[in-house]
Amino acid sequence: MEQERKIPAHVAIIMDGNGRWARKRGLPRTMGHAQGARVVEQILEDADHMGIRYLTVYAFSTENWTRPDAEVKALMNLLRTYMKTSLAKCAKNNVRIRVIGDKTRLDPDLQASIAHLEQETAGNTGISFQIAINYGGRDELVRACRKIAGEIADGSVSPEAVDADLIDAHLDTAGLPDPDLLIRTCGEERISNFLLWQIAYSELYFSPLAWPDFSKEELERAIDAYNHRERRYGGLVG
Ligand code: FPP
Repeated sequence: MEQERKIPAHVAIIMDGNGRWARKRGLPRTMGHAQGARVVEQILEDADHMGIRYLTVYAFSTENWTRPDAEVKALMNLLRTYMKTSLAKCAKNNVRIRVIGDKTRLDPDLQASIAHLEQETAGNTGISFQIAINYGGRDELVRACRKIAGEIADGSVSPEAVDADLIDAHLDTAGLPDPDLLIRTCGEERISNFLLWQIAYSELYFSPLAWPDFSKEELERAIDAYNHRERRYGGLVG
């Protein structure tokens, strides 16, 4: 009997290649990001229909501030628009949104729209959508260490109580399961500081497609590849 296909509960995506996609078409890089934002919305819907429970995307890294001002502004404006326009869709589709990363460096109006969207969708029980903004895996671990150090200093946590679960609980992703599958698009085979702690046992899938060309079919291919992997978590074959 053919085995049933497993759907990963949590899929994380490094959306790469917006700039290359635009350049190939003689368009400004920002058009690549705009098309990328449309694809994010479509893939969220597709992931939901496929039964994926958590989707996490890398929208803006702690290193992306070094890009030209106009590009940073264009990316922030796309995120601003997304936060403002997706409330009705989230309500309709029962989507919960969370932003991971250091939000304190974002413009106050963007921080406010994020807080509003997070609050309004907090009770939704469908797919959980995490958007990483001003996110870096090392930065997240540094912030977690600082929080834990503060708790040790004020006596609420003892040094012996620091274990993997406690660290997990101080990350931006607290309460979320680790990604089962991490996808990176556009042929690059790097992690680029994304979810460093959380991907310890994730399966990796590198897609040749630029993010604006990513599709439901390519997501299906990634899940097929995931189904051919044997996850051992450091143990022996069962
Ligand atoms: C990488 O392509 C992509 C980014 C740095 C930005 C990703 C952002 C979006 C897809 C849009 C906003 C998202 C949401 C959630 C609405 P690149 O610019 O590094 O491409 P390149 O390597 O080809 O230059």
